Amino acid sequence: MEIEILGICGSPIKGGNTEAFLKESLKAAEATGDVRTELITLAGKEIKDCRHCNWCVKKQEEGKFCAQKDDMVEIYPEILKADALLLASPVYVSRLSGYMACFSDRFRVFGIGNVYCRRLRNKVGGALAVAWGRNNGLETTLLSITSTFLVNEMIPVGPPLNLGSPFGATGLASENGTGKFDPEDKLGVLRDEYGVKGARALGKRVAEIAKLIKAGEAELSHLS
Ligand SMILES: Cc1cc2nc3c(=O)[nH]c(=O)nc-3n(C[C@H](O)[C@H](O)[C@H](O)COP(=O)(O)O)c2cc1C
Repeated sequence: MEIEILGICGSPIKGGNTEAFLKESLKAAEATGDVRTELITLAGKEIKDCRHCNWCVKKQEEGKFCAQKDDMVEIYPEILKADALLLASPVYVSRLSGYMACFSDRFRVFGIGNVYCRRLRNKVGGALAVAWGRNNGLETTLLSITSTFLVNEMIPVGPPLNLGSPFGATGLASENGTGKFDPEDKLGVLRDEYGVKGARALGKRVAEIAKLIKAGEAELSHLS
């Protein structure tokens, strides 16, 4: 049984550290077999703020999630068809990026929409964060992402305890998180060996749990 994992990168930098980190996680998930992956970067996309108009509460129709017309129109169906989401954000001011925050707020269409309410239920979620400094907001960022999963009745999973935070994968873009860096090296996070191991372990774990849930759901629907 094949599963699909959708990775979303919440950095304004295309091909930057957060995207590279997320790719490591998606590749590791794919390597477990029977996994298709897709990566969507929010860089350059128009993701408007949720404006709390409550259109989604009463006026959703099949295929029409939100009143706003922006790049979420294309992204919503991808979220819906995925079995698992990997959400990756750079750390900004000790928390998640504005891009990722806007993106998460737009999940309201799944939280209380009249058609799409609870449709993310039982999808698996993995969180990834990339920071410049070691103790500068990685876990705060992971927890914000995890709250998006929990609010939507998703199943958050983390990497094994010896590979980072239980809340998700953490990457350091400067040398050991000290702020030192090689100006020629734009992808310092790939030099964070421990962090990259965590990202890969998270991808594998997300794939493992998503497969179990999909197989379990298929079995239960067969019985009923
Ligand atoms: C507005 C802004 C705020 C930032 N705040 C933090 C911070 O609080 N802690 C930290 O470690 N790094 C911070 N950074 C650095 C980024 O997290 C870091 O450079 C990260 O690698 C960026 O990933 P990217 O290459 O995918 O954009 C900040 C960067 C920006 C642009």
